[in-house]
Amino acid sequence: MLHDHIERVLFSEAQIHARLEELAAAISADYAQTTPLLVSVLKGALYFVADLTRAVSIPVALDFMAITSYGSAQATSGAVRLIKDLDEEISGRHVLLVEDIIDTGLTAAYLLRTLRARDPASLRICTLLDKTARRIVDTLPISYRGFEVPDMFVVGYGLDYRQLYRNLPYIGVLKPEVVAAT
Ligand code: PRP
Repeated sequence: MLHDHIERVLFSEAQIHARLEELAAAISADYAQTTPLLVSVLKGALYFVADLTRAVSIPVALDFMAITSYGSAQATSGAVRLIKDLDEEISGRHVLLVEDIIDTGLTAAYLLRTLRARDPASLRICTLLDKTARRIVDTLPISYRGFEVPDMFVVGYGLDYRQLYRNLPYIGVLKPEVVAAT
């Protein structure tokens, strides 16, 4: 069974939703006079952005990007390729980039460069998890952060291990034997 593969729950479903309500309240207040465009990156942020958009009390637009990394090169160069661009024009709009996790920061830095070049009115980041221990990129404008996460491989609530475990309602750590067996 799915839950039997988990050694430890780091953030329960209740903890995630309580924190998400706080983030949504802050976003609703900060963007009260605007209708921001929430830009999300497939696939990890899927659950987070779905719950976040339903928790905010302001009208928001939603759009998606998909990217792929150039294999192991990403770890050093941050080279990623856009495989699905936004449908919306963002020039002059208030854009909030929504991520499930920021790890090295290379993906977010690439996305910021790409989005900034299109001249949005404002551009901020909202991430559920922040793994600062592995950060390579100097500074990222993270305005909304759910949880600081230790340097462990975590799954659930959108985060995968070999494309599995995204559908766990909480965030946890896999049992070592599950990882060893695959
Ligand atoms: C994850 C996450 C971020 C990125 C963060 O995506 O959604 O986009 O990694 O890592 P970084 O800060 O080191 O660049 P992943 O590549 O696992 O794809 P997925 O969203 O489809 O799971």
